[in-house]
Amino acid sequence: MDPLRDSFTIKSSDLRQTLNVAPATLTDLFKKVGVSFIEDEKSTRGQAKNVPSNEVRKILESRGFQYPTKAKVISLMMCKGGVGKTTTTVFVSQRLSSYGAKVLVVDADSQGNTTSAFALDQYGLNIDEETPILLDVITGTCTLDDVILKISPNLHLIPSNPANSILDSKIRENSKNTSIAIKKYLDQISHLYDYIIIDCAPALNLTNTAMVSASDLVIMPVAPDKFSQMGLEQTLTEISQIESDFNLNIDKKIVFTKFDAREFTSLKYLTDIAEVHKSKMFSTMVRTASDLKNAITKKEDLFNYKKSNAKDDYDNLTKEIMGLDKFFDKKNKKEANA
Ligand SMILES: Nc1ncnc2c1ncn2[C@@H]1O[C@H](COP(=O)(O)OP(=O)(O)O)[C@@H](O)[C@H]1O
Ligand SMILES: [Mg+2]
Repeated sequence: MDPLRDSFTIKSSDLRQTLNVAPATLTDLFKKVGVSFIEDEKSTRGQAKNVPSNEVRKILESRGFQYPTKAKVISLMMCKGGVGKTTTTVFVSQRLSSYGAKVLVVDADSQGNTTSAFALDQYGLNIDEETPILLDVITGTCTLDDVILKISPNLHLIPSNPANSILDSKIRENSKNTSIAIKKYLDQISHLYDYIIIDCAPALNLTNTAMVSASDLVIMPVAPDKFSQMGLEQTLTEISQIESDFNLNIDKKIVFTKFDAREFTSLKYLTDIAEVHKSKMFSTMVRTASDLKNAITKKEDLFNYKKSNAKDDYDNLTKEIMGLDKFFDKKNKKEANA
């Protein structure tokens, strides 16, 4: 793989906004750090550049930003389907990797929607029912190495398919302690990644107990409807139970999805949930966006779209997850006062 050509990129204008620096400062940084980039051929003014992820990493590190020293494990969980777990997994993972993080995506849903989103010809992944999945690791027929596919140099995937639907019974058979059924495997590879993102099935089962127990953070996407709101409370209760059963302390965050400020119900659910769970809410809300649907079904890179609410929202959410927003805010304030 060519780290320059095969990785996801960030537009220089987006990078400048993230660093919160003037255009000239960014140009200086490019020179100082010795960054290689790809000129954006579509740009008419010849200024736009696409900065490959490994170069973005160099720049962020040169500004003092530190990536996690050991993989932060994040599960996308919610006992209700259709709330945006998969969509969030796909776009956040992709964007994390664009920001230079080393990312492993674990598709833990037997529907395999995350896997199909990444099973693109452009990534050269040939995934079929023979492709090893997480189940094969649990049953001991494959090693972790066998099941990890490389979408890009710093975005890897453990795929899924319908055979994973027996994961629950295999975990029951093979693990005495559910809380380490998945963790013991992730621990073996946590030094290789900055983030491990797990897309969970919409269920409260043994597999999800194992996923939650392996996680540092659980992100719960909530759409503006009654069933999502009920699902959120059930999911939170389940996580509390897991924490108390296994003596764990897991961060819990809520991201509001499919938000439409023009809709009374959207606002109502947002206010209701924020009132009860204010401290758990991400500042970013993902607005409802038709291009989001298109990006996954048409298998396009959302972040190459010119304008899209979804693109901005997932960019902001990714920055919140990485702590980029806070880091550069603080740094710039400090420098301004110096
Ligand atoms: N912000 C959004 N705006 C519009 N449609 C969305 C948004 N997020 C998700 N969707 C659509 O909603 C459906 C369910 O999303 P998905 O991510 O598959 O949910 P889950 O994984 O929780 O079942 C998909 O068709 C997806 O394209
Ligand atoms: Mg899903």
